[in-house]
Amino acid sequence: MSQRQPARQWWHDAVFYQIYPRSFQDSNGDGIGDIPGIISRLDEVAALGVGAIWLSPVYCSPDADNGYDISDYCAIDPRYGTLDDFDRLVAEARERGIRIVMDLVINHTSDEHPWFQASRRREEPYTDYYIWQPPRSDGELPNNWTGFFMGSTWEWDEVREEYYLHLFDKKQPDLNYHNPAVIEEIERILRFWLDRGVAGFRCDVISLLYKTSLEDGKGGPVIRGMEHYKTQPGAHEILQKLRRDVLDPAGAFTVGETVMVTLDEARDLSEPDRHELDLVFYFDHLEVDRLVSRYVPKPFRADTLLERLTRWQQGLSWNAVYLENHDQPRIVSHYGDDKHYWSRSADLLAILLLTLRGTPFIYQGQEIGMTDFDFSSLDQVDDVESHNIDALLREAKIPQQVRWWLIRTASRDNARTPMQWDATAGTGFTTGRPWLGINANHTVVNYAAEDQDPRSVLNFYRRLIRLRAKSPTLLRGGFEPVWADRSVMAYRRTPEPEADRQPAEGADQAQPGAAETGPKDPAYTIWLNFSGRTQRIKQPWLVSSVSADDPAGGDPVQAPQIVVSTTGRRELDGCLLPWEGVVIRDFAAEAWRG
Ligand code: NOJ
Ligand code: CA
Repeated sequence: MSQRQPARQWWHDAVFYQIYPRSFQDSNGDGIGDIPGIISRLDEVAALGVGAIWLSPVYCSPDADNGYDISDYCAIDPRYGTLDDFDRLVAEARERGIRIVMDLVINHTSDEHPWFQASRRREEPYTDYYIWQPPRSDGELPNNWTGFFMGSTWEWDEVREEYYLHLFDKKQPDLNYHNPAVIEEIERILRFWLDRGVAGFRCDVISLLYKTSLEDGKGGPVIRGMEHYKTQPGAHEILQKLRRDVLDPAGAFTVGETVMVTLDEARDLSEPDRHELDLVFYFDHLEVDRLVSRYVPKPFRADTLLERLTRWQQGLSWNAVYLENHDQPRIVSHYGDDKHYWSRSADLLAILLLTLRGTPFIYQGQEIGMTDFDFSSLDQVDDVESHNIDALLREAKIPQQVRWWLIRTASRDNARTPMQWDATAGTGFTTGRPWLGINANHTVVNYAAEDQDPRSVLNFYRRLIRLRAKSPTLLRGGFEPVWADRSVMAYRRTPEPEADRQPAEGADQAQPGAAETGPKDPAYTIWLNFSGRTQRIKQPWLVSSVSADDPAGGDPVQAPQIVVSTTGRRELDGCLLPWEGVVIRDFAAEAWRG
């Protein structure tokens, strides 16, 4: 089933760019990014070669979880702007060939949402909009589930005198998807934004919507109870209904965030013949160096990464490819080396992101190689998850130094520090006091400096995006693993089969260059050294005698060419330098096999 070519849509060719509005660009000096700020930076986004923006939530929210707790789905939070500003964003983005994809957070609302306020007072029709339970007969909590932000998933409500379920923070009560009225509300919300011209939705924790039962969960203390709500048949039915009723008639795109999803579950959620989601965000490839959760590290291995990538690359007909988002550490601090080989390792990770098979998602700041935060204590951290984890570890008597080390490694605020536009005090993000600290390295790692420097991480991203846009193989070809050990991995993108060639539907707004499909794009082989040491490849013929200029004077068409390199080397000699990554246009890939 793997790697068959799905019917071509605009989003197969596009590069997506995720904006976390709070931290992108402040326009009025209040220290919080906003929609007019985003509009003022659209030229920079367009210059990267982006075809769509995924906008993290801008709806009204009391901000218990930075916008992922929504109190009004059809209004813009005044701190971010107005609906008029939003309409202007859609229009101005469209002028630059960029679509807007909204974040859809419908597993839960804010406890300040009028639905929840009415529900706790048992006002119809809202009484059963949420998941309410009385205490057990022994006076205990309704079940033993534990949540994503730690602790029980149940909170007592004084007004209704019942517990309500919250898989996330207690200010994020879960909606009740056994109630058809809730699904109707969601359909109204989808229509509201589609009518305003959005191209689709990134669907927050979408595979958790439907709670099949509220029985006790099995397993250890971490996220206990999941078997009762992870990717249940009820969730599939809801996704199919939303698609049938609203999304398909509007031609809308969806990517679902699918927590702890298996490959089989992901197929059921996103293969085209299922008519559910278009793409899923899975996490397997980011967890190569983690045990159980982001907070329990283990050593990284390139061969494990390749093995996991291969499973997903070949297992789904199309992948959402990403290395960062607002919940993950910065990739150059995670899989790269932000101390000794900052720009080279950031470049190598750009190669990985932009040469895999699928739709790449760049998270704001990734394109300039932004690193994890440089905070020195918990009071500089805002993230609700980090604070909850610290409290839990404190209860377990874990020493402060260990707690801080864990939070520094895994806090979601690592990715949420303001976008570094220039070297000034407010880094061009704000003229006021930023809501979250600015990394001191903004004097070096910043857009303005990198824009001018042909060898910057930013220009490396631009170059790769242009390469991808012009290459039928990189856009549509197959994926196969070539070689891996603890530090090095290699894979090949094989040419698109002749029979599969088809223009993208709705390709009017696709990326510039996407239509320039030459007849003979060969295979590409990608070598990546994830280490600060020179690595000798045991089969040196695999990585030797590669020349862009074909100095031997042989048939130029047959000579493999390094088309992109993180070191600038144009020939390989059986070894890879520290953090060297190369993309080789490989006219004779067949001969290399075996
Ligand atoms: C996933 C979002 O990406 C994250 O930021 C949020 O806290 C949870 N879902 C809950 O909405
Ligand atoms: Ca602002």
